[in-house]
Amino acid sequence: MTKPEPQDAAINDAARSLIEWWSDAGVEPVAPPPSARVKSASAPERRDTRAPGAPEKLSAPRPQRVAAPSASRTSGGEEDAPRDARRLAAAASTIAELKTAVEGFEGCTLKATAQNTVFARGSMKSGVMIIGEAPGFDEDRQGLPFVGRSGQLLDRMFASIGLDREDIYVTNMLFWRPPKNRDPSQSDLAACMAFVERHIALAQPRILVLAGKTSAQAILNSSEGIMRMRGKWGAYTPAAGDESQAQTIPALPIFHPAFLLRKPDFKRQTWRDLLSLRKRLEEG
Ligand code: URA
Repeated sequence: MTKPEPQDAAINDAARSLIEWWSDAGVEPVAPPPSARVKSASAPERRDTRAPGAPEKLSAPRPQRVAAPSASRTSGGEEDAPRDARRLAAAASTIAELKTAVEGFEGCTLKATAQNTVFARGSMKSGVMIIGEAPGFDEDRQGLPFVGRSGQLLDRMFASIGLDREDIYVTNMLFWRPPKNRDPSQSDLAACMAFVERHIALAQPRILVLAGKTSAQAILNSSEGIMRMRGKWGAYTPAAGDESQAQTIPALPIFHPAFLLRKPDFKRQTWRDLLSLRKRLEEG
């Protein structure tokens, strides 16, 4: 038997993990039409590997401003942190400048125990910006959000509606890993909030996806639980005084992939939420 080429093996792995996701999400396989069952001996057939009802890949390019980063300084204690963050965030006029400002920020106590600042990954090609909670172990090591097990599931979830890893923009409410992955505190969130708001203003997403309770509550200014919030479209209203962004942005809370890893039965609901996202994107 001939060994598969490395790129074929990678495609097989990707296809397998997509099928696994669809199967867990309860998507029923559909038998091919009778005509498709008879293969021509000569002409090789091009197979459609999409799941039934799964859409084609999106392409809605969106420009992103990039400029040289600038240095940033903070003044001091934990109480000053939200104010310092607001000042630094407001001074950033590009995403690259904002990243540099976050990396130089000393107002969040989590930074002292973290190995890396974790800012963002991906692109705004699809117009979808996903906001999670906080970096975990793998993210802290690599300095990138959602690269561990829950990140792999997140990628699979979005691939299932035709959005590649490179086409979505992924970030978190917190830029540093909380020790032992503890829940974010109110002061952690307060210290980082102005950066998150500026991040949204500069990225200009068409749609926000809020993965888990922490980002859903903070971005939609709600105290409802994620069980109630998930799947219901909300609207993010930019912070007062941010003239760069006049309009509200549609925002969809979904279950956090780490929760889905623990409770796979909830993948069915998430599949419905993803289809709702897909529909919204198609509607433009
Ligand atoms: N969970 C999150 O919310 N964010 C990450 O980056 C990783 C895990």
